[in-house]
Amino acid sequence: MSGARSRAGRPVRTLSGPAGAALGLLALLAGAPALAAEAPEVAQACLACHGEALAEGAPPIAGHSSNYIQLQLVFFRAGRRKNEIMQGVAGGLSDNDIRALGKYFASLPAPETKPPADMQADLTRAGEAAALRHRCAACHGDAYLGIQAAPRVARLPEAYLAKALGDYRAGTRPSSGGAAMTEVAGALSDADIAALAHYLAVLP
Ligand code: HEC
Ligand code: HEC
Repeated sequence: MSGARSRAGRPVRTLSGPAGAALGLLALLAGAPALAAEAPEVAQACLACHGEALAEGAPPIAGHSSNYIQLQLVFFRAGRRKNEIMQGVAGGLSDNDIRALGKYFASLPAPETKPPADMQADLTRAGEAAALRHRCAACHGDAYLGIQAAPRVARLPEAYLAKALGDYRAGTRPSSGGAAMTEVAGALSDADIAALAHYLAVLP
């Protein structure tokens, strides 16, 4: 990996070949700054689902911290975070792949998603109240853009957010950060989860 490391920091758009073209396009669409980490070969396989258009059930991963991305890939690879698709993907990744993927996706800016129109203002208010009660912002930040081990959760797809909270509660997803999310989610009702997922998905 020393070669890749010495080239890190080179603008993605200088890569040549079809891989370079695809990744350069992604960087362009995501509004990447000139200095994104070099895209490892394996990142190509991720774009079909985590690119500008998201596959069903897939969240955006650009702009999460490298640590968060690497941890999730390790959890999938070890079968501790359950998801058939991602366990299959991560099963084929080496430690070096995981490091390079974490570094690369973390170097891309988070997508500037516009919140969908809020058609359920009551649910939003219920979600805001539940977030206050459970002190979600204490770890995720006032704007829910993430702090340290706690990732950005603002404006992720609503169905993904609900599934994530349900998975922590069911124990099919482990939590880094001292089991923080496992404890938090254990106290959530189904109604809390629906309201919280909606509130976070439509945050302005
Ligand atoms: C066929 C579609 C598909 C491909 C290809 C794919 N993913 Fe995923 N990925 C998903 C889905 C679906 C989820 C949501 C899993 C869940 O609900 O727990 C996910 C979740 C993730 C997460 C967790 C995100 C979070 O916010 O916790 C990471 C990190 C991730 N993928 C990285 C990758 C990387 C890196 C690659 C390429 C090596 C990749 N994925 C390829 C579908 C895909
Ligand atoms: C004590 C700190 C803490 C509190 C309080 C907390 N979180 Fe988290 N949250 C974390 C950490 C750390 C992670 C990353 C865990 C992991 O490795 O999966 C996380 C992950 C998440 C994720 C997964 C994001 C993704 O991309 O998959 C969601 C959704 C989430 N939190 C929502 C909430 C909500 C809603 C609340 C309030 C009910 C909350 N959190 C309260 C620390 C916290």
